[in-house]
Amino acid sequence: MSYRYVLIDRDDNVATLTINRPEKLNAMNPEVVADISAALDELRDDDAVHAIIIAGAGEKAFMAGADIGMLMDVQSPPEGVALSRRGQAVTLQIEKLPKPVIVALHGYTLGGGLELALACDIRIAADNTMLGLPEMNLGIAPGCGGSQRLPRILGKGMAKFLIFTGDMIDSEEALRIGLVEKVVPVGELMDEAKFVARKLAAKSPLAMAVAKEIINLGMQVDLESGLAIESLGFGVLCMTEDCKEGCSAFLEKRKSTFKGR
Ligand code: COA
Repeated sequence: MSYRYVLIDRDDNVATLTINRPEKLNAMNPEVVADISAALDELRDDDAVHAIIIAGAGEKAFMAGADIGMLMDVQSPPEGVALSRRGQAVTLQIEKLPKPVIVALHGYTLGGGLELALACDIRIAADNTMLGLPEMNLGIAPGCGGSQRLPRILGKGMAKFLIFTGDMIDSEEALRIGLVEKVVPVGELMDEAKFVARKLAAKSPLAMAVAKEIINLGMQVDLESGLAIESLGFGVLCMTEDCKEGCSAFLEKRKSTFKGR
C-alpha cells in the first residue's frame, strides 16, 4: 500500500518505515498517526518482514513532536483526551507488534517523536540527535506515553528532570543516561540500523516475538509473575521446529536456518 506520510522500503527480511513530512519536521498530526498505524499493521501481517526500522525523512529531524497548530484547535478536555489516546495507541501498537522495532533517530527528536521512540525496542541515534520532551514549554505535559515510559526507562528522577525542564539533550548525554542504546556518525545511521535489524531478522521469529512479549509484560508485573510468564514462553518455544533447528545446528557445527515454525 502507499501512504501520504509514510514510505515503506523492504530489503530482504527488513522493512524500513520512514515518517515523511519533512517540510514540518515530521510533526505528528492525526493523518501522520493514521498512516504510521496502517503501515505497522501492513508490516505486522507480512510474514516476510522479520524486523522493522522506523526513521524520519529529511535532514533536520526524526520528528519535532506533535503538530503545534493542531494543539491550538483542541476545543475541550475530552477532545484532548482523545488526541492523546490516539497517539498512545500507536505506541502500544509498536510494543505489541510481534517483531523487533528499531528506531533510527537523527536531528530533532522531540515530544511525540521521542515518545514514539520510547515504545520501540532499540534506539539508535545519529551523533547530531537532540532529544527532549518540551511539552512543559507549551503549557502541557507529555500525552503520548512519555510520562509513563520515560520513568520506566530512566528512573523517576531523570525523567522528571527532562520533563519538568523541557530541555533538550544531545546524543552523547542520551547514551550516558540510557535513553538510546547506540550513537553513530550521522552518515552511518541507516547502515547501522540495518546491520542490527538484519541480525535480529536472522533469529527465529517465534523466539523473537516471545522474547519481546515476555520482557514487555514482565516489566509490568511483580518478579514472580514475570518469572511465570517467562517459563510459559520458554515452554512453548521448546516445542518449536526452530528450537530443534537451532540446537541441531549448534551440535552439528553449522549455521542455523530458522523457518518460524
Ligand atoms: N508542529 C508544527 N510545525 C512544526 C513543528 C511542530 N511541532 N516543529 C516544526 N514545525 C514547522 C515549523 O513551523 C516550520 O514550518 P514553516 O516552514 O511552515 O514555518 C518548519 O516546521 C521548520 O521548522 P523551524 O522552526 O523553521 O526549524 P528550526 O530549525 O528553526 O527549529 C525546532 C527547529 C525543532 C527547534 C523548532 O521547530 C521547534 O521548536 N519545534 C517545536 C518543538 C516542540 O515544541 N515540539 C513538541 C510539541 S508537543
